[in-house]
Amino acid sequence: MTDVASQPPAPGDDRPVLTTRQGHPVYDNQNQRTVGARGPATLENYHFLEKISHFDRERIPERVVHARGVLAYGTFTADGTVGDEPISRYTRARLFQEPGKKTDVAVRFSTVAGGRDSSEMARDPRGFAVKFYTEDGNWDLVGNNLGVFFIRDAVKFPDFIHSQKPDPVTFEASVPERAFDFFSQTPEAMHMVSLVFSPRGLPASLRTMQGFGVNTYKWVNEAGETQLVKYHWLPAQGVASYTAADGAVIQGKTLGAHTKDLYDSIEAGDHPSWELHVQLMDDHDHPELDFDPLDDTKVWPENIFPLRKVGTMTLDRMPENFFAENEQISFGTGVLVDGLDFSDDKMLVGRTFSYSDTQRYRVGPNYLQLPVNQAKNAAVATNQQGGQMQYAVDANGANPHVNYEPSITGGLREGQAPTHDEQGPEIVGRLTRARIPRTDDYTQAGERYQLSEQWEKDDLVTNLVDALSQCRREIQERMVWHFFLCDDEWGQRVGDGLGISADDVRGLEPLQSQTLTEAELERAANLG
Ligand code: HEM
Repeated sequence: MTDVASQPPAPGDDRPVLTTRQGHPVYDNQNQRTVGARGPATLENYHFLEKISHFDRERIPERVVHARGVLAYGTFTADGTVGDEPISRYTRARLFQEPGKKTDVAVRFSTVAGGRDSSEMARDPRGFAVKFYTEDGNWDLVGNNLGVFFIRDAVKFPDFIHSQKPDPVTFEASVPERAFDFFSQTPEAMHMVSLVFSPRGLPASLRTMQGFGVNTYKWVNEAGETQLVKYHWLPAQGVASYTAADGAVIQGKTLGAHTKDLYDSIEAGDHPSWELHVQLMDDHDHPELDFDPLDDTKVWPENIFPLRKVGTMTLDRMPENFFAENEQISFGTGVLVDGLDFSDDKMLVGRTFSYSDTQRYRVGPNYLQLPVNQAKNAAVATNQQGGQMQYAVDANGANPHVNYEPSITGGLREGQAPTHDEQGPEIVGRLTRARIPRTDDYTQAGERYQLSEQWEKDDLVTNLVDALSQCRREIQERMVWHFFLCDDEWGQRVGDGLGISADDVRGLEPLQSQTLTEAELERAANLG
């Protein structure tokens, strides 16, 4: 069916012909079908209706957090060892066992708070999410570039994110008063605040930032013995950051400087790489430490729990399509392979529900059938069926009628269980809602300040004074009080910048949401 005679192709024009999704050639892509040249339009015009109604549905909900991101592909190469020990001593995960074993990876770097088209020069943690397409199925390591987080209980996440997002009335974005109102009432955020407002909150490029799993996971060996583990990505390119002034100049020219830098380097053959290191701890609660190993607002001291290398990741390929790959890739902390496991970290368990829940809503119930999300290097055979957009049908053995299990007539069977049960600690306790006993919200934040170089301290103080100057006095005072409890010099310098002294804040009562130790109470009584 055609209204207008198609033009013969120009000599030598061998481009493919435009069609509808039904495979019908389109002979006129410039004019709708109308009654006479001046209209009215007719309703049966399939090509026009299909084109415009698909366009009307081009957007899916953007990620509720980490909406702005960039994707690249590459390879992880295992060492077969963890430091100088055989890795099989600690984990049976197959991707790590053989020296030189290669696993395909997809990596998505992101900012957290901004929308899909927002600036990459925002002061914000960066997401560092890696999907390993292993022979045992996919493993996602969904982390950030700073190593800790603002909160330690998943129930606080929606409130925390609302404080970082635009005002619900005016939609004004990046409002310091909203963010610091929340931080001032959240003492466990001080460690992360010490990082986000330091130069590390604005990486010079994605290639020059570290990555961390942040939450505590477990490794399980062949005997079922468990270890607590934290993951670290160390960039071969070194670590480099921008100041706020550098970032402002770049942002004046482009919102996508980090994506461009990453893709330019990949295209030029200058492939960025990161070493993967781990810290290991025996699997118990470690009463000798002044923090809880399951608390994601803490780092594990490297002098006690040294970094041990397990492999290297190199990125060498860009996606072919932004939407199909970057927008639809779906990471989650529940996506683990045999030999890797969860810990009871209260953030990790909450995250593990949240990711696949949002992806069923954001991408659809069959999001795992999309090429970028498939476990492409493992056999997949489920009895799942139906749902919007199902297109793949799993191979399910000799009798495709049997889409259930168990059955004596065919279909899929259960796999062989690992030879040993997990030998992790036994846990007994009452159901409760309670803070972990060892909160220690200030020590590591203060140490971070003290260990910074002078220019990093100066940058931190400048950035904090700049943001806090836009907040009301009660918020400023409470933040200065927290900084004094972290480190006297830090409190003094931010206070000087805001015209607030130790005398002004010494009388503040501890927050209801915190339990201070005797030593902290004494410090609070003698601030400055
Ligand atoms: C993305 C929830 C904490 C790193 C997301 C998304 C949700 C979410 C709903 C969007 C996922 C999507 O639409 O595909 C949560 C919850 C948390 C939490 C409930 C706390 C309880 C964290 C922490 C980290 C982190 C501590 C860092 C260690 C990321 C990253 C992404 C992400 C990197 C982007 C993944 C991608 O590139 O697609 N998070 N998150 N999140 N989150 Fe979290």
